[in-house]
Amino acid sequence: MTEGVFGRDSGHEQVVFCHDAHTGLRAIIAVYSTALGPSLGGTRFHPYATESDALDDVLALSKGMAYKNALAGLDLGGGKAVIIGDPKTLKSEALLRAYGRFVQSLGGRYITACDVGTYVADMDVIARETRFVTGRSRDEGGAGDSSVLTAFGVFQGMRASAEHLWGSPELRGRRVGVAGVGKVGHILVGHLVEAGAEVVVTDVAEEAIDRVRRAHPGVETVPDADALVRADLDIYAPCALGGALDDATVDVLRARIVCGAANNQLAHAGVEKQLDEKGILFAPDYLVNSGGVIQVSDELHGFDFERAKRKAGTIYDTAKAVFALAADEGVPPVTAADRLAERRMAELPRLRSIHTG
Ligand SMILES: NC(=O)c1ccc[n+]([C@@H]2O[C@H](COP(=O)([O-])OP(=O)(O)OC[C@H]3O[C@@H](n4cnc5c(N)ncnc54)[C@H](O)[C@@H]3O)[C@@H](O)[C@H]2O)c1
Repeated sequence: MTEGVFGRDSGHEQVVFCHDAHTGLRAIIAVYSTALGPSLGGTRFHPYATESDALDDVLALSKGMAYKNALAGLDLGGGKAVIIGDPKTLKSEALLRAYGRFVQSLGGRYITACDVGTYVADMDVIARETRFVTGRSRDEGGAGDSSVLTAFGVFQGMRASAEHLWGSPELRGRRVGVAGVGKVGHILVGHLVEAGAEVVVTDVAEEAIDRVRRAHPGVETVPDADALVRADLDIYAPCALGGALDDATVDVLRARIVCGAANNQLAHAGVEKQLDEKGILFAPDYLVNSGGVIQVSDELHGFDFERAKRKAGTIYDTAKAVFALAADEGVPPVTAADRLAERRMAELPRLRSIHTG
């Protein structure tokens, strides 16, 4: 790597390269900030084309976690890890346990969790080598599948968006389009149907659509995400992959609110301004999808679902605070969200200067 970590000027506290030749483990753990507490973020297991791509990804993702955890009101910093390789062929008990030993070696500066390519069962294996792991199975005392409160948090974000724009959080009769009905999307559809919304969905996987149809026969479907953004919607919920909002999408989008679970929905810097100019309210993705990290972080105190759900419910209030700040300061909501997170990361560490005896 020619430019290296320092050359990237990324602002990270610590970046650790982990290698175990026997199992083929090649991992990078990035700690962006521990200003608010130990850094927490998932482990992505992905066949990156180059180490440099893996490094870029883990640096960006760990910074994103610092902002997400700060805005969610958690006493946690931001970190993330990537394991380089195809999880289908490379994943083994020994590799995961080797990785767990590297996590343990950081002494709690980094706490891991699930991400793309890693699952609850993998966290149970990693936990055999380290206590700095969340997202374990309920049987092992863990928080289980984080999609449950991720979807709940997105639903709360939508209610707050509706209240900000239309004066009432009520979603009854609103037409909501959900792109991607996987783990999070299909639970979100359940909340929406229960709230009396009209729901339109799309997914590239036929079995995902079938599952929604079986559970909620009244839900409409459209062939693809392109048809969904052009549909007559009040709210658009991207719940598949990142980059859902690019110039072309914003041009044709008819919904007045965008609020979904997908990470990094803005395809490039500046899209948030285009949305603002079109009068479309964008609920910052890293705020409304923080129910998942709220759920798994509760595991650090002995998991209690009801307590975690109450905490995830505060996404409603935080979203309202973000929209209010955005209006006050004349900036898009995503800029307001960044400002709130940065204030918390700057203010709270100063308290350590007060000697407590
Ligand atoms: N699971 C969580 O707790 C969590 C937490 C925070 C953020 N997220 C984010 O939310 C999003 C969804 O996560 P998930 O756990 O439900 O993933 P998932 O893989 O279970 O579901 C994603 C769904 O999107 C579909 N899809 C993929 N490409 C599509 C396309 N072009 N058009 C329509 N559908 C498409 C897939 O077929 C799948 O059904 C991801 O961006 C993820 O990073 C998830």
